[in-house]
Amino acid sequence: MNICCIGAGYVGGPTMAMIALKCPDITVTVVDMNAARIAAWNTGNLPIFEPGLDEVVKQARGRNLFFSTDVAGHIKQADIIFVAVNTPTKTYGVGAGRAADLRYIESVARTIAEHAESNKIIVEKSTIPVKTADAIQTIVASNSKGLKFQGLSNPEFLAEGTAVKDLSNPDRVLIGGERTPDGDKAVAALAGVYAHWVPRDRIITTNLWSSELSKLVANAFLAQRISSINSISALCEATGADVDEVANAIGKDSRIGPKFLKASVGFGGSCFQKDILNLTYLCESFGLPEVAAYWNSVVGINDWQKRRFAGRIVKELFNTVADKKIAVLGFAFKKDTNDTRESAAIAVCRDLIAEQAQVVVYDPKVPAHEIIHDVVGNAHEEPRLTVATSAYEATKGAHAIAIVTEWDEFKTLDYAKILAGMQQPAFLFDGRNILDLPRLRALGFRTSGIGK
Ligand code: UDX
Ligand code: UDX
Repeated sequence: MNICCIGAGYVGGPTMAMIALKCPDITVTVVDMNAARIAAWNTGNLPIFEPGLDEVVKQARGRNLFFSTDVAGHIKQADIIFVAVNTPTKTYGVGAGRAADLRYIESVARTIAEHAESNKIIVEKSTIPVKTADAIQTIVASNSKGLKFQGLSNPEFLAEGTAVKDLSNPDRVLIGGERTPDGDKAVAALAGVYAHWVPRDRIITTNLWSSELSKLVANAFLAQRISSINSISALCEATGADVDEVANAIGKDSRIGPKFLKASVGFGGSCFQKDILNLTYLCESFGLPEVAAYWNSVVGINDWQKRRFAGRIVKELFNTVADKKIAVLGFAFKKDTNDTRESAAIAVCRDLIAEQAQVVVYDPKVPAHEIIHDVVGNAHEEPRLTVATSAYEATKGAHAIAIVTEWDEFKTLDYAKILAGMQQPAFLFDGRNILDLPRLRALGFRTSGIGK
């Protein structure tokens, strides 16, 4: 069997590497129109940082895992084609700011139809609006040269930073297909790939629309938990309760459970906000404005939480940060990834710069040019924003430290040494509640956490 995956990003790369590792009998080729990205996948310096991924790629690459820019050639050879291109939020026209931009999906569908010379199973890995499979099917069918294309939905549930673990031991694999004999056959073929390592009872099969919708709903529910606890974090700050204590107490209720209750400076990542906006757009299109408003508030609280954090920094620094140096530690949207999409750090840096602070960012994995591009775009230089190569360099002479990403290395810094190099009084804002604040207060910091 031959598998081709179009899109060598955070989803396509790790997912295909795992399939290749677990299925030595299947040839897996990942193609991408970005030649630099493909070249990087073929070196020892992979384009994405993900714990454990180097090892997986090293074992399978050259054996049955390949990375190539020959999109047309590998479409021809493939039995199963995964589509894992990005589906950003539309920035123009109808649905701007909310609907998914499906231009890449459509162009991939056309490319497949153009180059295919045999029947194919086409698997949507990208998160897309419900009923997109229909559109893909229509595009490929109308160019089919008599060939049969069977569309499946197989949403990815891996979280960045734990992708290898999530892929090798998934809670479930979801496969949606048309409820027809050909559809059932395609579902069975894909289930057979995952069955190389995933127990059968964790492979769930549904109709196409249930599968597409489940991905959006899973992310909406996860994000909702974070917005719920973050809303309570504000109440904790007002009342003197400690949000970690509240989360622990409610999480012990087995009906609630302990996961995804960590209050934070706000959730980020390529999925949560985009998928909820998608869900609300979908609800509105189907005449359900109340449902849309309900889910929209999850995003609303998140935006507010990000602003609230920057606002608190300004307030505690005597209502002005103008020309004060603020060290922002962490820029990725969570630890153990170099991905910055929708990271809360972007909003925090922008708000502080708007207050005329001098912002110095340090992140262990995100390159400097990426940080600057995310905060100020291509347009101009921003003299108020610089990037340091260590936490010690970033904090030297700073008035305040803001922890924005929960990288482990921030837990073990020599804070006594850092304090000695800072302006006094020195402030520390823990946007991830990872530090022992009483200990830092004893050292001489003025500290605040989220919801405490
Ligand atoms: C994924 C999913 O596909 C997206 O729907 C989900 O919501 C977030 O995660 P991801 O793998 O994280 O996307 O995106 P990215 O890292 O941007 O990778 C997409 C890749 O597809 C890029 O390397 C891009 O060059 C490639 N691409 C895009 C193509 O090869 N052809 C195209 O037409 C468009
Ligand atoms: C998410 C889903 O978890 C995954 O199943 C889906 O396939 C893609 O979207 P990801 O965005 O990679 O994965 O990361 P996730 O671990 O869900 O974290 C998202 C954001 O929420 C991060 O910014 C994280 O820091 C934040 N978060 C998470 C919290 O603020 N508190 C929590 O308790 C958990």
